[in-house]
Amino acid sequence: MTHDTVPKTAKLTFGDQELDLPVLVGTAGETAIDIRQLRAKTGAVTYDPGLGNTGACQSKITFLDGEQGVLRYAGYPIEELAHQSHFVEVMWLLLHQELPNKQQLEQFTHDITYHTMLHEDLKRLFSSLPKDGHPMAVCAAAVGALSTYYQKAAPNTPEQNWIDAIRLLAKMPTIAAYSYKHSIGQPFMYPRNDLSYAANIMHMMYATPCEEYEPNPVMARALDLLLILHADHEQNCSTSTVRTVGSSGANLFASVSAGISALWGPLHGGANQAVIEMLLSIREGRRTAREFMELAKKKDSGVRLMGFGHRVYKNYDPRALILKQACYDVLGELGRKDPLLDIALELEQIALSDSYFVERKLYPNVDFYSGIIYKALGIPTELFTVFFAIGRMPGWIAQWLEYNRDSEARITRPRQIYMGSAPRTYAPVEGR
Ligand code: CMC
Repeated sequence: MTHDTVPKTAKLTFGDQELDLPVLVGTAGETAIDIRQLRAKTGAVTYDPGLGNTGACQSKITFLDGEQGVLRYAGYPIEELAHQSHFVEVMWLLLHQELPNKQQLEQFTHDITYHTMLHEDLKRLFSSLPKDGHPMAVCAAAVGALSTYYQKAAPNTPEQNWIDAIRLLAKMPTIAAYSYKHSIGQPFMYPRNDLSYAANIMHMMYATPCEEYEPNPVMARALDLLLILHADHEQNCSTSTVRTVGSSGANLFASVSAGISALWGPLHGGANQAVIEMLLSIREGRRTAREFMELAKKKDSGVRLMGFGHRVYKNYDPRALILKQACYDVLGELGRKDPLLDIALELEQIALSDSYFVERKLYPNVDFYSGIIYKALGIPTELFTVFFAIGRMPGWIAQWLEYNRDSEARITRPRQIYMGSAPRTYAPVEGR
């Protein structure tokens, strides 16, 4: 439907009531029926578990067309950004929904670079946690703890929010790298201001005080690409979490910490770790690719083809297309081969010609190929989702800021349909 052909209202008949509900039309013609008056006028609410049919906000940040496999940040196609931009510029784009001019970009890059250090006392938080604790838990704790160091953090003024945003964007790589260094018992490496955002991450991850370390530029560029592709994805589970927590008036650090926890789950960002574990299980001969696929189709097996399927994409996830090519490019440039790539390609081939996956429109998503690149960069499997979180940081912040500017925003508080016991009388325990 186009703007001109979309009806202006939707008619709802409910008992003997007739309601004309306003219709909202987005930039690309996507339509929403505005039901804000529904309960007041009819006494009924909508029922939509998982919110798959619910538009919870209006947004100018990211556009996604799941049927066509289209993703744009503030109007710019993901393919153009992936190949022509860089992560710091994309951060600005998401935060302002405009590309920066030269001076803005220089100032922003400077600000991000000069807020990367953590308060020295915060280091003790890492050493107080078990070395084998999952780094996503460590990162959620450290990001939440930032609000104890920056206590003015509150959704109050644009200036305060901006400096908190800079701090988070700058410090997240340091937190991620410290979580890794703690897990392997190596000394924390301070950030280096002469390096790019991605190269500095590699320095903090892989350098030691014992010798010089120069990040490999091919690896740094590959990491930058991964960060761009993960930077935002409109109202996904973790972003909705960040908005929901922020809707109560909680500060940016607390809201993003909750987002990190939401991202951790294997149905969301944790899928990148799960994909590599799945590929390894096939490589180690526990099952063949075909046996695995048969299992993934059986509902009672508890097995899913990880990195496949998406709530919104009913077509190839454009990020997966870029990453699939990047796997060849990065492995080629590094002069490596990875048998896991062959297994992934085999799984994809089986899926794309199997009626189970074809009928359900299940295609590779962003997590299917990303792990092969993380692995080529030497990033341990347990840290894959942490790198997703570094990438998603500007998206979470941009969405939180947008929510705080939105005059129509209200505290998130869905309704329910109570199906429990009817009223009954309390009986003391002796008589039960
Ligand atoms: N393997 C096997 N069957 C699947 C899969 C899969 N990966 N994904 C969906 N299905 C089936 C599902 O069983 C259902 O079948 P039926 O209609 O017969 O009941 C149908 O496809 C629709 O699936 P759904 O679970 O209702 O879809 P959803 O929108 O609620 O869930 C999803 C989306 C991403 C959670 C799901 O596709 C999934 O679990 N995928 C594997 C995990 C994964 O890769 N997650 C990363 C998502 S993308 C990046 C991110 O958000 O972090």
